[in-house]
Amino acid sequence: MVQNREVWSTRLGLILAVAGNAIGLGNFLRFPVQAADNGGGAFMIPYMISLILLGIPLVWVEWTLGRYGGERGHGTAVAVFDYIWKKPYAKYIGILGVMIPLVVVVYYVYIESWTLAFSIFSLIGAVPHEHMNGSAAEYLKPFKDFLLSFIGANSESPIFLNPPLSAYLFFVITMFLNAYILYRGVSAGIEKVARFAMPTIFILAIILLIRVFTMTSPEGRNFLDGLGFLWNPDFSALTDPKVWLAAAGQIFFTLSIGFGAILTYASYLKPKSDVALNGLAGASVNEFAEVILGGSIAITASVIFFGVMSTQEIAHQGAFNLGFIAMPAIFANTPLGELFGFIWFLLLFFAGITSSIALSQPAVAFLEDEFGLERKKAVLYLSIFVFVSAHLVIFFKGVLDELDFWVGTVGLALFAFLEAVLFMWIFDSKKAWEELNKYADIKIPHIFYYIMKYVSPLFILIILTTWVINDLPGKLEQSSLNVWIARGFLIFTIILGIILVKKAWEKREQRKVKNG
Ligand code: TRP
Repeated sequence: MVQNREVWSTRLGLILAVAGNAIGLGNFLRFPVQAADNGGGAFMIPYMISLILLGIPLVWVEWTLGRYGGERGHGTAVAVFDYIWKKPYAKYIGILGVMIPLVVVVYYVYIESWTLAFSIFSLIGAVPHEHMNGSAAEYLKPFKDFLLSFIGANSESPIFLNPPLSAYLFFVITMFLNAYILYRGVSAGIEKVARFAMPTIFILAIILLIRVFTMTSPEGRNFLDGLGFLWNPDFSALTDPKVWLAAAGQIFFTLSIGFGAILTYASYLKPKSDVALNGLAGASVNEFAEVILGGSIAITASVIFFGVMSTQEIAHQGAFNLGFIAMPAIFANTPLGELFGFIWFLLLFFAGITSSIALSQPAVAFLEDEFGLERKKAVLYLSIFVFVSAHLVIFFKGVLDELDFWVGTVGLALFAFLEAVLFMWIFDSKKAWEELNKYADIKIPHIFYYIMKYVSPLFILIILTTWVINDLPGKLEQSSLNVWIARGFLIFTIILGIILVKKAWEKREQRKVKNG
């Protein structure tokens, strides 16, 4: 089986694919909202500290585990946990590294389809084009209504969303594109798309950056006000645990760590490849795209148009408000706004699709590696699962948020903790350090040995404990029908995962017996 596994064809292609994995809606939508909602300059210090103490170390952990698995013909945490932990239950815990990204895809692809829809709507002038008057809230109202009616959230029903047919069609198209890329495979599909999409993302982002940096408001605000909001350090919030949680959570999300998806990408390395430099390079490209590009477009534009106070208010009201409401409103008041709106949403779409294919790949790899399925079959099964499950997100209110809380917030921290402990404690820290530095193209400072062994796991543990104490009780109190639909789906997915692992290992035993 080892001989048949796919590999990345070039190092540049690999870096672009990994950057495509990491650079996503998180960089351009989530980061600005998190930063604005947590005080701008106050957010950036915990963010940078989390990058060094959590982000980079965990990137190395996942890359090394992935290469380790790939060398043995396996590309998911299921087999890697089984090799390293050598306990019968390890593989069942490892299935989290398949199921977490799989659940994320179910709602991520839907949001991605909105970006495709909005890019077309912008281009043909189908978004509202009211001109600026009244307060920010009054002014934003038509744009907000537009988004709400597109996702069908303005219905009376407490249970159902009623999106228009167009929303459903854009979803089907997006789903199809994802499936097609995965169907083509690692180097002919994922790598090829990344080679085109990544440079395009940078060009589109730079065009928007130039546009935003040349904007001024009637009150005389310009881009310096926006940059000042993000880059004037504010030490007062450093003692606020909420800001730390948000910053660490953003680091996880943006670098795609704690999902098991980097592990899968790293399993397709050619033999004897470096992981130290590749991991660092991927993370650096992502951080550039996040703080420099992602941080300067939406926040800056919004601060120029609406001021710091209103920007914080907009960000506070919801994750999509800045990107899907404030940005179209701003472009409506910009010459050639249709074109810039198109560019903005196209940028989001490219960023989104290179991430959703990455989120899907662990499940594909699992079916291929552990069941010996052909790739095409594996992609077919995956696509059916995602397509059917997505109906819960498309038609039921609140399912998206509930899923995002459990997998996108709690699940990934839990899984990242398991990975770090598995690697540095169960695998043994000396061996782990050697494994990381094997074939390395850079010399990692030795201090990271201690960071990876002590600081990162402890840091995650503190985050998790705080979450459990602060957020969990309130979360568990919610018990509407829709919340339980989402939870039921999560439980179903976990049970499905466990059954599949069990079946895969039974097959393995049979094969062993047959081969004597
Ligand atoms: N990092 C991606 C973003 O910024 C999203 C993401 C989170 C992701 N976890 C992932 C992508 C795992 C691929 C794999 O939007």
